[in-house]
Amino acid sequence: MDSTIGSLFRVFPSDPIMEQIGVIICSQRPRRAGPQIATFVLDTLKQYQAGHPSSRPYQFMLIDLAEHPLPMYDEPGIPSRIHSSAGYAHYHTRAWSDLINSFAAFVFVTPQYNWGYPAGLKNALDYLYHEWAGKPAMVVSYGGHGGHKAAMQLKQVLQGLHMKVVPHHVALQFPDREFMERASSGADLGLRVFNEAEPGERLWAQEGKDMHIVFALLLERLFGEADEEFGLRNIEGCACSDAQSHS
Ligand SMILES: Cc1cc2nc3c(=O)[nH]c(=O)nc-3n(C[C@H](O)[C@H](O)[C@H](O)COP(=O)(O)O)c2cc1C
Repeated sequence: MDSTIGSLFRVFPSDPIMEQIGVIICSQRPRRAGPQIATFVLDTLKQYQAGHPSSRPYQFMLIDLAEHPLPMYDEPGIPSRIHSSAGYAHYHTRAWSDLINSFAAFVFVTPQYNWGYPAGLKNALDYLYHEWAGKPAMVVSYGGHGGHKAAMQLKQVLQGLHMKVVPHHVALQFPDREFMERASSGADLGLRVFNEAEPGERLWAQEGKDMHIVFALLLERLFGEADEEFGLRNIEGCACSDAQSHS
């Protein structure tokens, strides 16, 4: 071990831990919209972070499911009975377990496929159990109608994994058919986070504000501290939904 790092830990034993929040790109297709939309989500959350300094340090990291391809579930055991990555039979599961273990909370950025979320995401979730359990999670969906159905189903599954799921999700609705075509082929969508200093029309400006509110609820679940300006106090005015039934 690097002795400098070791001595730093000894000198500042009470430094708060830098919590890692994983922003998961839930699509794995070649030429997909997922990375662009997840980057938009990430920038929106960083904007919240810059405007709302926290006494508890945290940072974001993108997790791209396409970079962690897993075969269809092939572990002989049941993940809920396995308490450390050494208990898995396969290297790919141990690597996935170690990665997910290193995060304290998750933001799932998922497309809607045929009224559900992608099968690859379900597979990636099913591989593990304790690595997810007890950790806060929020969902941002996207699609022709915003992907509400995918978001609703995903939140239910995350609850089954005993995650601390924010009940409200944010749905990013594609504005028109042409946008859908561009998204589906991975073309540039020109997404930019709304910024008060640069007024003007910006796609998903309201959804960006909603994302701040839902993220404040995620932080509340992570740190147990309510953000005075956001969170439950603002959720009433939020267009984000836990009960919509659009396709
Ligand atoms: C297999 C498949 C199923 C789809 N089903 C839906 C759907 O149910 N509702 C919808 O609004 N869009 C649907 N779409 C369109 C996606 O919203 C659009 O292709 C989007 O770009 C998918 O995200 P991705 O590019 O990150 O994979 C579907 C796309 C695919 C590939």
